[in-house]
Amino acid sequence: MRRARRVATLTSFKVVDVLEAVERLQSQGRDIVRLEAGQPAFATPARVVEATRRALAEERTRYTSALGIEPLREAIADFYRWRHGLTLDPARIAVTTGSSAALALLGDLLIEPGDGVVLTDPGYPCNANFVRRAGGEPQWIPVVAEQGYRLTAAAVAGHWRANTVSAWLASPANPTGAVLDADALGELAAEVSRRRGTLVVDEIYHGLIYDGPETSVLEVAADAFVINSFSKYFGMTGWRLGWLVAPQAAMGDLNTLAQNFYISPSSIAQHAALAALHPEVLAELEARREELRCRRDFLVAALRELGFAIPRVPAGGLYVYAGIDGLADDSEAFCREMLERAGVAFTPGTDFGTHRARQCVRFSYTEPLPRLELAVERLRLALAQR
Ligand SMILES: Cc1ncc(COP(=O)(O)O)c(C=O)c1O
Repeated sequence: MRRARRVATLTSFKVVDVLEAVERLQSQGRDIVRLEAGQPAFATPARVVEATRRALAEERTRYTSALGIEPLREAIADFYRWRHGLTLDPARIAVTTGSSAALALLGDLLIEPGDGVVLTDPGYPCNANFVRRAGGEPQWIPVVAEQGYRLTAAAVAGHWRANTVSAWLASPANPTGAVLDADALGELAAEVSRRRGTLVVDEIYHGLIYDGPETSVLEVAADAFVINSFSKYFGMTGWRLGWLVAPQAAMGDLNTLAQNFYISPSSIAQHAALAALHPEVLAELEARREELRCRRDFLVAALRELGFAIPRVPAGGLYVYAGIDGLADDSEAFCREMLERAGVAFTPGTDFGTHRARQCVRFSYTEPLPRLELAVERLRLALAQR
């Protein structure tokens, strides 16, 4: 088969290899505690289910406008008013098929072949592939545990090259849970703007910050591009719905790209998402945040006790990124071993970059507390028997 050379530049999502191994073991009847994926295991809120039924009954099953239905774009703008005190024109909001589609649109909008994009290492693995897909070059900036894995303006300045055009980062970050405060975001935005670059901040884990305030980059840099999604805080991974906030000047091109590449986001999912932004549902989601905080606190303390290195408690997100020095010297082999022997699935650091990737693993705390307790007990036994 003939295939484009570009495809060979993409890297596979290693967590998918873990998923396959998990499924093999489960098909043999093994109980596996699954701490490898990033989807909160909560039931869909009743109001969202009801809105979906209503959308079906009312036959809201046709294409919508490419950037999404007006009431949803307005409701997202209201969400920023309520959460961040920001007044956003709904015309600057594009509803997308998951934030993944928003990242794809931005790759197409911002990157010429040969352009460089600075990304954090470790970071969300698909970002580099969105950059490569557009013919760009990922340029990695290592972020280190000693600095709470936070990307600094000084690091961006140090890694910016002649061909660099953009900086993409997430706050809270995957896999590290690092959160950037208003000062840090402001300094980053100023640095990128000084270099005439474009700042893209992925805020998909907003709503899942457990310590300290939640700052959107839009509070300090009105011209930044912001990614968000109904997948994480709203727990709607399978609905495939996200959004993008962009400068007004970009909206025409984004509309053309979205129209051509996927015509419109799912109509039914958009009606469901409208219900997800209802204050009653948001109150339910806030209660879940407290539950996630308890899980995080439990897991961090328990893993530290087992010998994992977690220098700082992750301030947000759904993950604990832990060092395994002293326990093992290869994260991939360690994940395989613990899956086989302990029946606990988690992800090797090599999925997220190369910097100390063989010395780190990622646990997600999306499972309920009793399952986390079981995971820790199993790991304790498996480690003691080595
Ligand atoms: C940082 C980050 N951005 C984007 C995504 C993509 O999410 P979705 O396409 O479901 O919105 C993920 C998924 O795990 C993520 O962790």
